[in-house]
Amino acid sequence: MDEDYKLLVAAIDFGSTTAGYAFSFRHEYRKDPLDISTFLWTTGNHDIATSKAPCSVLLDLEKRFIAFGYEAEDKYEGILANNLQDDWYYFKGFKMLLYKAIENGEDIARDFKIDDVRGKSMSARRIFSIAIGYLRRHLLVQLRERNVGLHESEIWWTITVPSIWTEPAKEFMMQCAEKASLDRQKVSILFEPEAASIYCRLLPVDKFIGQNKVTSFKSFEAGRKYIVVDAGGGTVNISTQEVSHGEEIDMLYKVSGGPWGGDKINEEFIKLLCNVFGDDIIQQFRDFNGPDYLDLTRQFELKKKTYNRFLKNDIVMRLPFELCDLFETYTGRKIEDAICKSKYSGKIKFKKSKLCLSPEVFEYLYADIVLNVTQEIRKILNHPRCKDVSAILMVGGFSESEILQLEIKNAFPDLQFFIPMEGGLAVLKGAVIYGHNPRTFGTRLCNFTYGVNAMLPFSKRRHPDSHRVIWNGKPYCSNIFRVLFIVNEEIKEGEVRSIRVIDAFDTEEAQEKRFSPIRVQIFASDEEDPVYTTDEGCRLHAEIVVSPPDGKWPRRVFGTVELEFAGTEMIGTYISDDTGAKTCARFEFLPSVSSSRASSARSRRDSLRSKGIVENHFTSKATLRTIQEEDTYSRKSRKSTEKKPMGSSVSLDTISDDQSFKGSLMLNRGNLYKHNSRTTIYSDIEDKEKGSTASLRKLVASTTSINTTDSDNDEIKIEVD
Ligand SMILES: Nc1ncnc2c1ncn2[C@@H]1O[C@H](COP(=O)(O)OP(=O)(O)OP(=O)(O)O)[C@@H](O)[C@H]1O
Ligand SMILES: [Mg+2]
Repeated sequence: MDEDYKLLVAAIDFGSTTAGYAFSFRHEYRKDPLDISTFLWTTGNHDIATSKAPCSVLLDLEKRFIAFGYEAEDKYEGILANNLQDDWYYFKGFKMLLYKAIENGEDIARDFKIDDVRGKSMSARRIFSIAIGYLRRHLLVQLRERNVGLHESEIWWTITVPSIWTEPAKEFMMQCAEKASLDRQKVSILFEPEAASIYCRLLPVDKFIGQNKVTSFKSFEAGRKYIVVDAGGGTVNISTQEVSHGEEIDMLYKVSGGPWGGDKINEEFIKLLCNVFGDDIIQQFRDFNGPDYLDLTRQFELKKKTYNRFLKNDIVMRLPFELCDLFETYTGRKIEDAICKSKYSGKIKFKKSKLCLSPEVFEYLYADIVLNVTQEIRKILNHPRCKDVSAILMVGGFSESEILQLEIKNAFPDLQFFIPMEGGLAVLKGAVIYGHNPRTFGTRLCNFTYGVNAMLPFSKRRHPDSHRVIWNGKPYCSNIFRVLFIVNEEIKEGEVRSIRVIDAFDTEEAQEKRFSPIRVQIFASDEEDPVYTTDEGCRLHAEIVVSPPDGKWPRRVFGTVELEFAGTEMIGTYISDDTGAKTCARFEFLPSVSSSRASSARSRRDSLRSKGIVENHFTSKATLRTIQEEDTYSRKSRKSTEKKPMGSSVSLDTISDDQSFKGSLMLNRGNLYKHNSRTTIYSDIEDKEKGSTASLRKLVASTTSINTTDSDNDEIKIEVD
């Protein structure tokens, strides 16, 4: 996009606990990049005002949007008071449900169901897009009220996502943005820790908590390495960065983290209550005394935010009468007695309807989180590339916790700490700055190993029999993972790696395949040196689908496959030797996956395999591709202006959004990709304007009753009933 049309940059930080937007005009950015506006969200009675609102959405029974943020919380409190909760949908903290869906093996690239606070389910894509759409409309109203004569097309959006999100999660977010009427071409997705770092690099020294004013984070010279801990409500993301020359920041080590955000402390508190009162009582209290349950959790949230570690005072909360009454009526026991018999005996007291937690018990609620975060940081510091890391930058709302700050400082006494005053807004504001100047990151780390699925002449010594296939009467080894980028390797923007390949259609049975597209399969792996694409930890990442020139391939097809690193994306290109034609596919350059996430991805893959969904697809023998021996691995840099635009098609969009599509549609026969005819039909989308076929594959239908009717021309009709 031409920079001149980026008159305003707006960023959306969609957190698991809070969400909000920030923006700045181009002229403001040029004068002072830190001159960024946020909206102040307030509760109904105005006793709380924050720059990010609670990420809560209220819908009516017809699933129509009613309220967001504090307004939704306030309204829902009234609903609970009147016992009308069954007539509403109320979603809170739903970003974390995306993680859970990934861990449960859901195919989030399509859509999936998430439950509201009472277990009523709804399309995740719908609820996420409602939240983004609300923030978009809210900003537009604010601009209108300020009489800003700005057209929406002059707004550039930056949406931040956790750096441990998998690529389908990122694509899911982009689709939600599109559904919320954001123009995909004017949206960039940025990893949260990168945004935070961008912001803090500009921040003056007096805007950091307890800074000794000797070294400012801003003045970090080239070569200084630091760890960014972004502690939010749902997750803690940890990334390692290095100041590069000029304004640039390089990624030093793959991003990691886990579900160890501040909300986990609240969960631990509920577990403590369950331990004392019993799971059943707390469940009943939650179900039948909603407003009182909310009141108790809000009290705890406030105590958590205001706890002073040096005063060592007890944490005192009013225990709702309804809970005490429920417990004593149901069990016939006194609360004091229950506490005495629990593991918290002597550490928790019940006095004058108040529950008092000793500082020891309260701080113990942080133990797991502190352990996980410090272990992760230690792991990073032990890596040879990170040995000379000298500082930790702590951002995110949860970084404002004194306990977290002190525990991490104590664990790493030799490191210097930088904690900005408005840590919870660092991501949001950094994302605005990035929107104005996206060149802030020069190098990224490969979070996976990437390569091409290929074949080599079979060697009894080097290859196992299980991979032996016969081609043209000669033995070959199939499914070789030909590595182009290695996990944890530094890559520069615009860097290209390529490999020469030959596709052949020599055998009798291969002849009919000369009419089908060649599918160049790009694989990703968690391992540094995967040998076969069928190895543990390998997965199909993307495909470049190349249509035959003039409808039919020659017997031998020579070409080059290139992978280019383009910021948060990769561009795969197949260049035909014969015609020189280039076929491009743009796909995610994956954010990091922590080892736990990687193993969950593995189990998801395994579960899909057991359903027969992935396996056939991986071992497709549509063509026999070998690596050309003479020049296999070359590097070169290319200007980003050479990037090919992504193929797109609007005709299938409506269908992929709704999996229960019924009816018929026409697809180009050549682009139809039938995967397991009994379950799923995909189609590749043709970019008609550019005349190329992008490897964006859309799910057309998933049903047992798909009828394909041949028609006279090149198109094929699909009936789904
Ligand atoms: N002073 C404080 N002490 C302890 N916890 C705090 C403090 N201030 C905020 N928090 C916690 O920080 C979390 C919210 O942080 P933030 O707004 O950065 O999260 P988020 O962006 O919604 O979540 P995520 O980044 O994980 O998606 C909440 O769990 C909140 O309780
Ligand atoms: Mg956040």
